[in-house]
Amino acid sequence: MQLSILLSTAVLCLSTAVNSLPLLEARQTVTPPARYYLHTKVVNGDHKDTGSNKTNLWLYSYHTGAGLGDVGLSSNKSIAWEGYLNGTQQFFTYENNQIGPWPLGIGYGPYQQFNPATISIADEPTEGFFFNSTGLQYNYTNAGWLACDWWHGVPQLFNENGSPYGPIPSSCSRVQILPVAV
Ligand SMILES: *[C@@H]1O[C@H](CO)[C@@H](O)[C@H](O)[C@H]1NC(C)=O
Ligand SMILES: *[C@@H]1O[C@H](CO)[C@@H](O)[C@H](O)[C@H]1NC(C)=O
Ligand SMILES: *[C@@H]1O[C@H](CO)[C@@H](O)[C@H](O)[C@H]1NC(C)=O
Ligand SMILES: *[C@@H]1O[C@H](CO)[C@@H](O)[C@H](O)[C@H]1NC(C)=O
Ligand SMILES: *[C@@H]1O[C@H](CO)[C@@H](O)[C@H](O)[C@H]1NC(C)=O
Repeated sequence: MQLSILLSTAVLCLSTAVNSLPLLEARQTVTPPARYYLHTKVVNGDHKDTGSNKTNLWLYSYHTGAGLGDVGLSSNKSIAWEGYLNGTQQFFTYENNQIGPWPLGIGYGPYQQFNPATISIADEPTEGFFFNSTGLQYNYTNAGWLACDWWHGVPQLFNENGSPYGPIPSSCSRVQILPVAV
């Protein structure tokens, strides 16, 4: 009797300890600066990007409609939007923003090689962002980010699905998304 109480108490303590460990601690997360701009670092390996230069581009919301934007990438740091992490939500803001934080979102399409990234205040915040030593990560996939010359005439950000689809398009680079304190 006493042994079984002891045992079940021990099991309870163990499971409480395991449950209270945040999932993210299993990953090597790093705490980003309180406020930061995000920029690209090209990590193409053998892949050759025949399009525009994707090195050191800054993230901003490329306007696509009222409260809607795709993630645009610019070499001009003065148009970068200011980011911060709220739990596992990645938010953006800008000077004199009166309408609240703009969440980073990742679209999803089945059987797609990569999905568009958005910064749209009209969207519900997406959970699952964190930072490690290779920058911003999205926990839905481990495949990382693409910067591509795509439909807006400026480089755009995409998140790779990670399934074996073959080579990425030649106008894309694989990039890390790194924070720089504001
Ligand atoms: C790409 O842009 C970076 C940053 O501006 C620059 O240092 C680099 O020389 C450029 N690469 C090419 C191939 O132009
Ligand atoms: C960078 O953006 C700022 C703000 O929009 C603009 O005033 C400036 O002319 C731009 N610089 C370049 C080199 O395009
Ligand atoms: C941060 O997240 C919490 C919980 O999801 C939410 O209630 C709060 O409004 C968020 N804060 C900001 C500044 O967006
Ligand atoms: C990603 O993180 C969020 C927030 O912690 C969590 O709710 C979700 O289950 C995670 N998804 C995956 C696929 O790990
Ligand atoms: C950072 O997280 C990503 C996604 O989970 C993972 O693929 C990568 O190996 C991690 N980087 C380091 C240095 O741990």
